[in-house]
Amino acid sequence: MKSALQTQKIGFIGCGAMASALAGGLARMGIPLDQMCAADPDLSQRERFASSLGIRTLADNSALVEQSEIVVLCVKPVMVVRVLSNLPKSIHLERPLWISIAAGVRLISLEAALPDGARIVRAMPNTPALVGEGATAYFANAATRPEEFRTAETLFSSVGATWLSQTEGQLDAVTGLSGSGPAYVFLFLEGLIEAGLKEGLPEEAAEKLAFQTVLGAARLAIEDERKPGVLREQVSSPGGTTVAGLGELNAGDLKGILNKAVSAATRRSQELSSESGD
Ligand SMILES: NC(=O)c1ccc[n+]([C@@H]2O[C@H](COP(=O)([O-])OP(=O)(O)OC[C@H]3O[C@@H](n4cnc5c(N)ncnc54)[C@H](OP(=O)(O)O)[C@@H]3O)[C@@H](O)[C@H]2O)c1
Repeated sequence: MKSALQTQKIGFIGCGAMASALAGGLARMGIPLDQMCAADPDLSQRERFASSLGIRTLADNSALVEQSEIVVLCVKPVMVVRVLSNLPKSIHLERPLWISIAAGVRLISLEAALPDGARIVRAMPNTPALVGEGATAYFANAATRPEEFRTAETLFSSVGATWLSQTEGQLDAVTGLSGSGPAYVFLFLEGLIEAGLKEGLPEEAAEKLAFQTVLGAARLAIEDERKPGVLREQVSSPGGTTVAGLGELNAGDLKGILNKAVSAATRRSQELSSESGD
């Protein structure tokens, strides 16, 4: 795939979990290691990043920005605007493509901390990106060019599936669904495992079977063109075991509960975004 990522210098601000996941994903995709660099004031974080990935690190964010054509902001949300504001105005902050993965930090706050005309992509990945199976939605400000959307798409596709959001507001619903979603699935897994134990399975078997069932069902839903509801009906023979189990889930209104969970997380994301500054 030909993209700007093949030739441009990529800098990560922050050497934590997400920067490592993204840099690792890009390396697996064939981006040369010497094209990437990362900055973090914490020496132990830099050492961990450099030794696990073989990518150069710096202590100074401004040196990183000066040499990068794409800058990925991978610090905690509370740090993002501070990091940008601390960069010296003498460096050309309007030059790189900025990509922020900070949850809840809106484009308007990022634009206010960068010069006019800065091109900024805001993305919402999720924790499975750490194992290359993330789900990332992204949106960009008006200054961002079409080829830069493709750059962001390629970058996040190195750690999983991507979706270009139609509005920035949709990123709150994305947070409620896929951002918080891994935790819902972990809870579902806990429940399946506990139920398996109660029915007499050994823990090792209950875990292995539950994990593979969720993974396999998701893989089938991705690869089969039929909708999940059709796949569900296909395995629900009248009078059979699956129908007996589904009857209980429907009686407990599993769909209604998921609806409420995604809605509550979406509302909370909206609140946090508006508290975070603009
Ligand atoms: N983890 C996820 O699955 C996930 C999902 C969606 C979005 N995100 C977003 O991704 C971002 C990073 O999350 P993470 O889990 O990778 O966090 P993390 O592991 O804590 O990494 C952040 C790194 O930034 C460093 N840092 C702090 N101040 C800095 C500065 N002034 N300049 C450069 N680096 C600095 C931190 O160092 P110290 O440890 O010394 O502070 C740490 O190494 C967050 O904004 C989060 O909202 C994460």
